[in-house]
Amino acid sequence: MADLTSNLAGIQSPNPFWLASAPPTNSGYQVMRAFEAGWGGAVWKTMGVPIINVSSRYGAVHYRDSRMMGFNNIELISDRPLSDNLKEIEEVKKYFPNHAVIASLMVQSRAEWHQIVKDAENAGSDGIELNFGCPHGMCERGMGSAVGQEPAVLKTITEWVKEVATVPVIVKLTPNITDITEPARAASAGGADAISLINTVQSIVNVDLDTFVPNPQVDGKSTHGGYCGPAVKPIALNMIKCCAQDEQVNVPISGIGGIETWRDAVEHILLGASNVQVCTAVMHYGFGIVREMISGLTDYMDQKGFNSLDELVGKSVKTVDSWEHLNLNYKILAQIDETKCIGCQLCYIACEDGAHQAIRINQNGGSRIPQIIEENCVGCNLCSLVCPVENCISMVQVENDQNSESWTDYVDQGKAPETFDDDRAGGKHHWVPDPKDALKM
Ligand SMILES: Cc1cc2nc3c(=O)[nH]c(=O)nc-3n(C[C@H](O)[C@H](O)[C@H](O)COP(=O)(O)O)c2cc1C
Repeated sequence: MADLTSNLAGIQSPNPFWLASAPPTNSGYQVMRAFEAGWGGAVWKTMGVPIINVSSRYGAVHYRDSRMMGFNNIELISDRPLSDNLKEIEEVKKYFPNHAVIASLMVQSRAEWHQIVKDAENAGSDGIELNFGCPHGMCERGMGSAVGQEPAVLKTITEWVKEVATVPVIVKLTPNITDITEPARAASAGGADAISLINTVQSIVNVDLDTFVPNPQVDGKSTHGGYCGPAVKPIALNMIKCCAQDEQVNVPISGIGGIETWRDAVEHILLGASNVQVCTAVMHYGFGIVREMISGLTDYMDQKGFNSLDELVGKSVKTVDSWEHLNLNYKILAQIDETKCIGCQLCYIACEDGAHQAIRINQNGGSRIPQIIEENCVGCNLCSLVCPVENCISMVQVENDQNSESWTDYVDQGKAPETFDDDRAGGKHHWVPDPKDALKM
């Protein structure tokens, strides 16, 4: 059977499933119950100078009014005394010596960082996570994402922590930034042993149409919060991939964001994460979801012939390239399985109004089954994405004898010239890769 043992920058855990720093890791009682349920590690709810929270704190976006697909919070770091948290970390480590307990920390001055890192280590923490990601409440005080958005400051604070830390240091990044590799490189250069991402995305989830106040509301007012849950997984996957591909980010990655199932976890791992952290799914469904995560990952690895997680980490990274390297001669066409089609015509409407008018309904024959107009179909996938019936519309490759040619090949061969005549603009049009160069044209 596949070995799920995980090692993130020297932090060992029985499996790669950790709880992210959040309400499920607020106390020793919760973390011990989580470990009993099967979680391999837990990043403690961020500790620092205890804060005062507001009521209410959470909002959500629901998919078709039922399942919560996006979750939003305006909660700050731990409101419990630091000494209580540290005492409970010590207790948890006594009962679960082989599980990973990571202290998430957030303070300001160099002296405060030194002190709290030593306190966390003395309590038995296996690692330290620096919360440079919280995008609400704490950033207004110059902490959290305010640090994550300033790579030079992030690097210096990481160096302060490394001056005293003897356990591995993980830097947790904010996604509220244009280029995630900048803070990731700074963390790496500052001596971080690993990075974790993503923290939450700045957001307002909805507005109450009667009171006119966005949710969550606090006595007639609201504030922006941090967005997480299934809706943010695509953002997390892209950012993890960016860090995994960057040569100056040479530290392992702990993947966070939208993980609910073993499949989500595998996607994070394939794009470069060495382990994963989960928050919203546990707040929604409880600690028990880890059982299916463990069995699902084990079965997947066994079926694919992977013995250890290392064989899986980053396996998809090489398949993601920039657009200009994709094969322009690869063509696919939609094909409808008439025996499965229920005649809802969603594909027809989507293609007719929103794509390339490549589907027709045979009005005269009285049939509701749509037909593909192959010469119009560009193989965009839209019809198969809106179709409510599984495997009813498949996208089938069109065989041709053309070699693989990308946009870059086209330019090299003069098939897609870098300049072309544009009479309306008064002459030649030039492609310029840097938008700033357009100002000189
Ligand atoms: C209510 C709530 C509180 C959170 N508190 C913290 C925190 O104290 N420290 C931290 O680093 N991240 C905090 N997070 C962010 C999560 O650790 C995680 O990065 C984020 O929710 C994305 O993961 P998810 O999609 O699995 O929820 C919090 C998230 C939520 C929903």
